[in-house]
Amino acid sequence: MAVQSTKQNSGLRGAQKAKKDEFYTRLEDIEKELRHYRDHFKDKVVLCNCDDPRVSNFFHYFSYGFEHLGLKQLITTCYKNRARDLFSENADETAISLVYNGDKNGNRVPDVDEIGIRPLEGDGDFRSDECIELLKKADIVVTNPPFSLFREYISQLVSYDKKFLIIGNMNAVTYKEVFPLIKENKVWLGPSIRSGDRIFGVPDDYPLEAAGCGIDENGKKFIKVKSVRWFTNMDFAQRHEDLVLHRRYNPDDYPRYHNFDAINVDVTNDIPADYDGPMGVPITFLDRYNPDQFEILGSSRTLGQRMSELAEKGTYQQGGPRFYLPNGDGTYRRLYDRIVIRKLQK
Ligand SMILES: C[S@@+](CC[C@H](N)C(=O)[O-])C[C@H]1O[C@@H](n2cnc3c(N)ncnc32)[C@H](O)[C@@H]1O
Repeated sequence: MAVQSTKQNSGLRGAQKAKKDEFYTRLEDIEKELRHYRDHFKDKVVLCNCDDPRVSNFFHYFSYGFEHLGLKQLITTCYKNRARDLFSENADETAISLVYNGDKNGNRVPDVDEIGIRPLEGDGDFRSDECIELLKKADIVVTNPPFSLFREYISQLVSYDKKFLIIGNMNAVTYKEVFPLIKENKVWLGPSIRSGDRIFGVPDDYPLEAAGCGIDENGKKFIKVKSVRWFTNMDFAQRHEDLVLHRRYNPDDYPRYHNFDAINVDVTNDIPADYDGPMGVPITFLDRYNPDQFEILGSSRTLGQRMSELAEKGTYQQGGPRFYLPNGDGTYRRLYDRIVIRKLQK
């Protein structure tokens, strides 16, 4: 009895976790971002590997835009999480892959008989051998992957040397799997989302009491998600526009950290124009980061010296590795994560 209820609970927990990953991206958000990358798609094989073509706007965008973008092929795979069967009315659906080679009958619309659909052997997990074989065929991967597997997802794309444009949470920039990629200019943030919430569709059985959840004018459930960003390794023009700097350095407005040799800048717009040394800036700096203007030296997570080596216990708030500023009375203030940058000399 006890064993059965534990099993049931873990199944339910699995289902709840799976539901947290069921956020569907709106077509307008896909269009707003994709228009910055037009030149990248000509003659390319695009893979959307976390996308049920029945609901995915990524599939919609690339199948209807196939000729306009000049694509070579569109491959989509969809995932069937076993835990979802607890709730799903279509418990016997299998994971499928779908291949579209463009319009054949001249009506410029992806018709059913132009789309090759085949069942996958497994559940469509992006890490499975059959899905990795499809990944190898792709030039560019574009999707909104499950938030809970973001680290693994992006690491896989990088290890197979793929171009990509994917949605994730801003906080992912601090992950140990992601920050080194950003520092080395192998990954950066896309231009279309820089602040605020984004709305995603959720399944009909998504709990309405969940924070940020609502019903739109068409009766469809949605959820507002904070701190969403596009992550990419495809270049776009805006990324090379200089941030206009209009403040002058002075030691009162830009104090030095106690546990790292850099000045603190609380707001990206306040980066001083006349300071050439290391500066700690908020992670939202990455929304404006131009690699021709600044270099990234590291982050407070790895650069900050341990406060226990520098100050009396009780004078500072303990916690993860962060930078600290002196309060002026022998105590220290712990800051949010900072990225350390320096202006490039032109
Ligand atoms: C955030 S949703 C986004 C769905 C779709 N890409 C979109 O933007 O509308 C992530 C999707 O990944 C699927 N998924 C979850 N785990 C997966 C896995 N291991 N492999 C492939 N897909 C997975 C989920 O079922 C879910 O549909």
